[in-house]
Amino acid sequence: PLRDSQTAGLWSARYIADRIRAFNPGPDCPFVLGLPTGSTPLVTYRELIRLHQQEGLSFRHVITFNMDEYVGLDAGHAQSYRTFMEENLFRHIDIPAANIHFLDGNASDLDAECQRYEDCITAAGGIHLFFGGVGHDGHIAFNEPGSSLRSRTRIKTLTLNTRQANARFFEDAIDQVPKLALTVGVGTIMDADEVMILATGAGKSRAVKAAVEDPINHMWTISALQLHAKTVLVCDDAATLDL
Ligand code: GLP
Repeated sequence: PLRDSQTAGLWSARYIADRIRAFNPGPDCPFVLGLPTGSTPLVTYRELIRLHQQEGLSFRHVITFNMDEYVGLDAGHAQSYRTFMEENLFRHIDIPAANIHFLDGNASDLDAECQRYEDCITAAGGIHLFFGGVGHDGHIAFNEPGSSLRSRTRIKTLTLNTRQANARFFEDAIDQVPKLALTVGVGTIMDADEVMILATGAGKSRAVKAAVEDPINHMWTISALQLHAKTVLVCDDAATLDL
């Protein structure tokens, strides 16, 4: 654990930067990075932007796959995860638009859209580093409690808990929070070469306990990572209170 959320966020950004630099990506061997939204990774994204602007970290040969997206928000909606990523990371770095991948929550055939995403990840050669946050109830991406631990990219119904937690982004109007989302599966995340989860604040301490100490179970989907060969869990002190 690191002292506070700022320190933990900076650590996670430097970890990502070190991985990209060590990989030395080029046109024929891009680095493939999975990315989350939420308030937790904001420090990470700010630091990645700083590393790009001040220390020459380049994303020219980085390919990204965002984990999830709401169903049914208009393109360009302020709370769509695509908009969030544009504003908080992509428009500030040198990543080519063609390298950025999102699930389309407005696709006419959502099942086909999920399959397209899986195929796209496969075509990119798989994900080198999947960076993620965690919900209070231990969900990773939008793999809500009860998700199969072998799940692939699919449509998920959001729990009331998750919609309440995210209502703060929708002017506290829970009826504005979509009920459905598209999300990579637990199995999709488990296929990454490496997974890094950032958890900060006492509100995440129960989820951190599930990740580290509880038996693996589908009610706390983060616990699946105990079976992953290489997971890094980055916490501040407060998130470790339950350990
Ligand atoms: C949403 C996202 C998750 C994220 C979680 C926690 O449910 N789909 O990817 O990890 O929120 O968000 P926050 O970091 O704001 O606590």
